[in-house]
Amino acid sequence: MFKSIVSKLTGVFIIILILSFSMVGIANYYFLGDFITKEKERVLYETSCYISLIVELNSRMGSSSFKGPYDDMLMKNIEQYSKNTGAIIWVVDTSGKIRYPKDYNYSWSGFNILEEMNPDLNTLQLTDKRQYEKVMSLKEGYIKEIGDFYGLFKDTKEKWLTIEKPLVYVDSEGNKTTVGAVYLHAPITDILQGRSEIFRFFIISGSAAALLSSIFVYIITRKLTKGLKKLNNAAKVIAKGEFNERVNISSRDEIGELAQNFNEMASALQNTEEMRREFIANVSHELRTPMTSIKGFVEGILDGTVPKEKHNVYLNIVRDEANRLNRLVNDLLTLSKLQAGELKLVYKKVDINELIRLCIIKMENFFTKKQLFVQAYFEFEEMMVSADPDAIERVIINLLHNAVKFTPPGGKITISTSYHKDKVYVSVQDTGIGIDKEELSHIWERFYKVDKSRSEDRRGTGLGLAIVKNIINEHKQEVWVESEPGKGSKFTFTLNRLNKADIQS
Ligand SMILES: Nc1ncnc2c1ncn2[C@@H]1O[C@H](COP(=O)(O)OP(=O)(O)O)[C@@H](O)[C@H]1O
Ligand SMILES: [Mg+2]
Repeated sequence: MFKSIVSKLTGVFIIILILSFSMVGIANYYFLGDFITKEKERVLYETSCYISLIVELNSRMGSSSFKGPYDDMLMKNIEQYSKNTGAIIWVVDTSGKIRYPKDYNYSWSGFNILEEMNPDLNTLQLTDKRQYEKVMSLKEGYIKEIGDFYGLFKDTKEKWLTIEKPLVYVDSEGNKTTVGAVYLHAPITDILQGRSEIFRFFIISGSAAALLSSIFVYIITRKLTKGLKKLNNAAKVIAKGEFNERVNISSRDEIGELAQNFNEMASALQNTEEMRREFIANVSHELRTPMTSIKGFVEGILDGTVPKEKHNVYLNIVRDEANRLNRLVNDLLTLSKLQAGELKLVYKKVDINELIRLCIIKMENFFTKKQLFVQAYFEFEEMMVSADPDAIERVIINLLHNAVKFTPPGGKITISTSYHKDKVYVSVQDTGIGIDKEELSHIWERFYKVDKSRSEDRRGTGLGLAIVKNIINEHKQEVWVESEPGKGSKFTFTLNRLNKADIQS
């Protein structure tokens, strides 16, 4: 199933938001509740300490543990504490009997509540042992209970916090006796409710924030992916072969950069496509011309249009044209192999001077036929270079062919080698027709021939210099031309020189 980046990002964002909100919420819920109940617990405990103190003082002055001269004042005190803390306060003896307050008249005692809930209750005795047994065994500290105090407050539908502090008397010998306990019960439903309130508020504000930021994320990611959609559509169009398609994205982020590169790629593709078309047009043109003339002459001979005595002349032309076709196809093959990187260069230690001598010998016939004077000028007897000898031979032969072709009889061709630092310079110079300034940059292109009519023989393919350039480029070297129309041309290329150490190794 297709899933857009927008929905993915928005989804992930919402999930992260919900997770973090609920984590913070839950933590808050517990810590906050805990904090408030702890605070309440502290107040109740402190109160229980005061009460146990005054109960003890009163009883010390009186006759028994729960009777003294200041009982009334004690009651008033406890009542005040009850009002301050909102808690029900009892003083209970070890058998679970409530000793203070002494009757039902004290509104703060909570008895009225108990009475309403349990009409049977007519005693001031705690009925469940769990309600007092534990605290009576303590000598210090206190007990905290949360809930309905073992069913006692069940019908109030409230949650109660109960603090039980043992009432410990110390006699003259330092013995500790637990004579009873002080009980404080405070409802904490409000506290817990406050907590839920805060939690609910948190949920609401959290969801609002989540909603708002999701919309925000949605808008932003949509804006981001809009560029991607544009690119996607443009890529589809280009895949169909329409190379003039471009994307228009001006944002200065990664997508903008991608769009810019995409456009450059499209331009390159368009360029290649145009070159391919032009190349095919050129090739078919170059092939058609000789084939048309071959066909014409052969037909003329066959149907008798060409008289018998002229057959030889025409057959010679046919052979020349066939040769030209052969050369063209060979050159094309070489060039395409070079460009596809199929012709791997085999580097050898070559004496370039020796290679030039060999080429001159191979070309001897052409020079003499056209009465051209050839001169080689070598700065040193031997000039070792690192190169592919077969490829470089082709370069030299091509340059020499051109020199012969474009130099009128009686002209001079000079080949020279020299070096500077680690570069060897090889030049082929002629005193031929030269090349116009405007043409100079074009002569390296495939099929490029300067004004065909000027070329004395039309055997050229226009591929020679393209091959030269490719071979030299493959060697990671340079080739250039200096020329003056009417005076001559000088083609120079470089090669890597081998020094003595390289040669011996
Ligand atoms: N030595 C030269 N003197 C004058 N023009 C030249 C020379 N070499 C090359 N050119 C020009 O460059 C063109 C391309 O050369 P090249 O690629 O070898 O093709 P071709 O030799 O088949 O014509 C030639 O047609 C010619 O116009
Ligand atoms: Mg040529």
